[in-house]
Amino acid sequence: MATKIYTDRQDEQVIETVLKKGLKTSLPKWSVLRLALGRSLRIETEPDESLDHRESGGKEYDLEQLTGDGKTGDDNITPLLRAMLSVRHGEDLFADNDAFVRWLQRHVRRGLREFRSAWMESHDFHDYLLHELLGDVAGTVPQTPTDDSEKLLRALAEIGIPAEVVSLQNGPRLSRYHVRLRDVNDHGLLTRGLDKLAFALGLGDQGVFVSSTLEPRIAAVDVPRPASHWHPVQPAALYTWLAQAPAEWRLPAYLGEDVGGDGVGFDLASAPHLLIGGTTGSGKSVCLHALLLSLLERHSPERLQLLLIDPKRVELAPYAKLPHVIGQQVLCDAPDALSSLQQLVDVMNQREATLASLGARDIDDPRAASQGWARIVVIVEELADLILQSGAIEEPLVRLAQKARASGIHLVLATQRPDAQTFSGLLRSNIPSRIALTVQKATESRIILDDVGAEQLLGKGDMLVKLIGQPLIRVHGVLIGHDDIAQGVARAKRTN
Ligand SMILES: Nc1ncnc2c1ncn2[C@@H]1O[C@H](COP(=O)(O)OP(=O)(O)O)[C@@H](O)[C@H]1O
Ligand SMILES: [Mg+2]
Repeated sequence: MATKIYTDRQDEQVIETVLKKGLKTSLPKWSVLRLALGRSLRIETEPDESLDHRESGGKEYDLEQLTGDGKTGDDNITPLLRAMLSVRHGEDLFADNDAFVRWLQRHVRRGLREFRSAWMESHDFHDYLLHELLGDVAGTVPQTPTDDSEKLLRALAEIGIPAEVVSLQNGPRLSRYHVRLRDVNDHGLLTRGLDKLAFALGLGDQGVFVSSTLEPRIAAVDVPRPASHWHPVQPAALYTWLAQAPAEWRLPAYLGEDVGGDGVGFDLASAPHLLIGGTTGSGKSVCLHALLLSLLERHSPERLQLLLIDPKRVELAPYAKLPHVIGQQVLCDAPDALSSLQQLVDVMNQREATLASLGARDIDDPRAASQGWARIVVIVEELADLILQSGAIEEPLVRLAQKARASGIHLVLATQRPDAQTFSGLLRSNIPSRIALTVQKATESRIILDDVGAEQLLGKGDMLVKLIGQPLIRVHGVLIGHDDIAQGVARAKRTN
């Protein structure tokens, strides 16, 4: 009877890291395994069989340590886990002990990998783990909705606005209070007094946002909750949303949930180009992954080609071998990127000439259908790095931004340094759709959005989205992890 869980060398390194760099304590190693188990159980998909392998350099752990198997009373969570995993994986794990241990092992190792990627990507691993621990608690204890009406009314009174809360809605990260104002003049007082209000509520740099409603004298006040009271947007939401996206959208892409918790996405084909800006750790890469997984879910390589450029080398690597990816590689160096972009300008010119000869307006014109062209999406993971390496990159980018829409070529550019140099006038005026994640200064928010506000976001995928021809909206991004990317890529390989 298998009663041990196996780890490999890399898993052991993760355990060390969590204990030394993360928790900074001398807890036993198996406590990290428990934490990893909890992490994996919160991912909606199944962990895959590649996690079964037993490799050298790892260790083995007794089930007794991990689940308290064989102990009496509350220390033994084995039956509970058996029941939970049975339901989750549709197998009778009371009858089949080997299968039970196998699922446990897969979950533990998947959780450890999640920790590993979080550690590599986030600069505040300690914070991340704390969130994990609190998140666990939040996940098992039924969430009582946060109602800070009293506190809000006191703060409003402090800035001279007597008001009354008429309703409350808890979204993924913010609580929206509908407040009735005593008279219309208080509305001006409120909108001018937002900094004071945030200060009175003790919100630090985070902002309170106010909007008008269709009800007379009622304003909607959005107040951020502490991170331990957020509801993360799960990857499954991406697939649910995609299945219901409007049929006429050609490149639907999911972003996350709005303040009230409704799904938000857009059609990249009509964007038709997108800039994503935000400081390091704000969630740009996660947002790109959501976009890529959306595109891959809906399109075969015959209909969609991707040109991936990633000067940092790591982030887009999981997609490299997909048949959708031009040249089956991620371009990391400026000279390669430059020549590929120039070739793409040629493709654009050829497509344009063909369209003209067919008398077709653009790729969607029925007269162009016979050409069977794939849409081409260019993804640049760090625009500033690329332009620093070679200023010449800008020229083909500008030409594509100006004209590529008709021929079905779209740009998605991400940057951590939204400044006039990276995002010059010509590029800027031809990339009409923008997403701002957290930035440090209001001036950076202006460069991305032509508007302030992004300096007050909550980080970790909190964003302001401005799509062509639409009002600015706030979105809390879907959280795509390492494992979700691997699953999305595997799906794209299988189904295409
Ligand atoms: N939508 C999200 N929900 C929750 N956490 C997120 C989200 N997006 C990002 N994060 C957290 O922030 C970290 C940094 O995100 P990342 O996309 O790598 O930032 P950037 O690319 O801007 O440096 C992630 O590892 C994750 O922990
Ligand atoms: Mg990144």
